[in-house]
Amino acid sequence: MIGNRPPVLGIDFGTSNSAAALITAAGSLQVVPLDGKRAEMPTALFFSSESHTVLYGSEAMQAYLEGTEGRLLRSLKSLLGSPLMDEYTAVGDRSMRFFDIVVLFFKELRRRCETYVGHSLTHAVLGRPVHFVDDNPERDSLAQETLRRAATEAGFTHISFQLEPIAAALDFEQRIDKETLALVVDIGGGTSDFTVIRLDPARSLQADRSDDILATTGIHIGGTDFDRLLDLSTVMPLLGYKHVGTGGRIVPNSVFFDLCTWHLIHQAYTRKALHFAKELWTDFTDLTLHRRLMGALEEQHGHRMLNEVELAKIACSMSGQTAPVALDFLRHAPDEHLGATITAAGMAEALHQALQQVVQCAQDCVTAAGLQAVDVVYLTGGSSALRPLVNVLQSTMPRATLVEGNRFGGVAAGLALT
Ligand SMILES: Nc1ncnc2c1ncn2[C@@H]1O[C@H](COP(=O)(O)OP(=O)(O)OP(=O)(O)O)[C@@H](O)[C@H]1O
Ligand SMILES: [Mg+2]
Repeated sequence: MIGNRPPVLGIDFGTSNSAAALITAAGSLQVVPLDGKRAEMPTALFFSSESHTVLYGSEAMQAYLEGTEGRLLRSLKSLLGSPLMDEYTAVGDRSMRFFDIVVLFFKELRRRCETYVGHSLTHAVLGRPVHFVDDNPERDSLAQETLRRAATEAGFTHISFQLEPIAAALDFEQRIDKETLALVVDIGGGTSDFTVIRLDPARSLQADRSDDILATTGIHIGGTDFDRLLDLSTVMPLLGYKHVGTGGRIVPNSVFFDLCTWHLIHQAYTRKALHFAKELWTDFTDLTLHRRLMGALEEQHGHRMLNEVELAKIACSMSGQTAPVALDFLRHAPDEHLGATITAAGMAEALHQALQQVVQCAQDCVTAAGLQAVDVVYLTGGSSALRPLVNVLQSTMPRATLVEGNRFGGVAAGLALT
């Protein structure tokens, strides 16, 4: 209890990672180490068919990448608001609704936080993106209600919502000493959100800050889309994507799109899909490509390829140097050459259109706020470190100072400050 007020847990339920924070009884802000020592916990569950247990966070990712038999679920947030939420899906030897899987995740997150603070937690502020679903207000409010129901079933009795970018801005406000017009840029795994906000440490204790929020915009593009585009441009050609085959025709491409899209990958492994892919051999002139495609499908390497692409994306983005995509598991002969790399120029090209859309959305936010320019562009969210994105942003807004924020714990911290 803080005075008469029970502690409120700020929960950033992200597409890729989740984080939580609260104000301690002593009044200080505490980001909860959710996953070992790390603040952020991959929003992932693994249903092991070997041990019949459910693993969460980095343990889930690890079991999956080590090749343990079972089912990995990620990117659950992108299903909020869609009819899929009420559908059942096979997990290990049983079948569960996607909604109940979200509940399981919230229960585990709450359990970890309670263990850390040593008492029960019933009050939560949940972050939400500016749009869960683009251009569909009904499905958007359904998404928020679904999240509320999931948190309720996980044991939270008092639940409120705050926009994720506003939370990020409130966290940033702790670090400035004068009034600043800021564009808060939160680029995560699934969404890119923008907020123009008037920040002022003198106003940070005011309960209602809605007057200071000058505009918000958001778009459903994030790191998982970048991974998909890079998978298509660097790895899929090794499996026959854009291969000009018999009769000078390009091989049908739907199988490659499925294989690159996190939540569609398992569709590419069904008997029907495998049969279809097998029949495609007549379209190929280079049968090595077709053999590799069939190997990747039969051995179910879709998630692994996407994961390797993501690692190379992060490596290239951090160093600016060419990063290899480790694809040894696709090799069928020891001398087979599988040289996929992510280069700074290749990444900028593959992501060009997506980044233009993201930066246009940022610019729209500044315009909607009635401004020509902002003082500061404050970067948060994992994908805000993506180098080509930072480059495009800086050249679009040359007058603003770019500030790198707390990439993973910032939204949760701001939610706790709400
Ligand atoms: N250094 C980096 N460079 C580029 N991308 C990165 C880097 N580090 C992490 N990412 C990407 O950031 C994304 C995860 O970011 P974050 O944890 O902020 O997302 P999230 O909060 O789960 O998503 P959302 O806010 O959209 O729901 C992943 O797509 C990951 O690949
Ligand atoms: Mg986020």
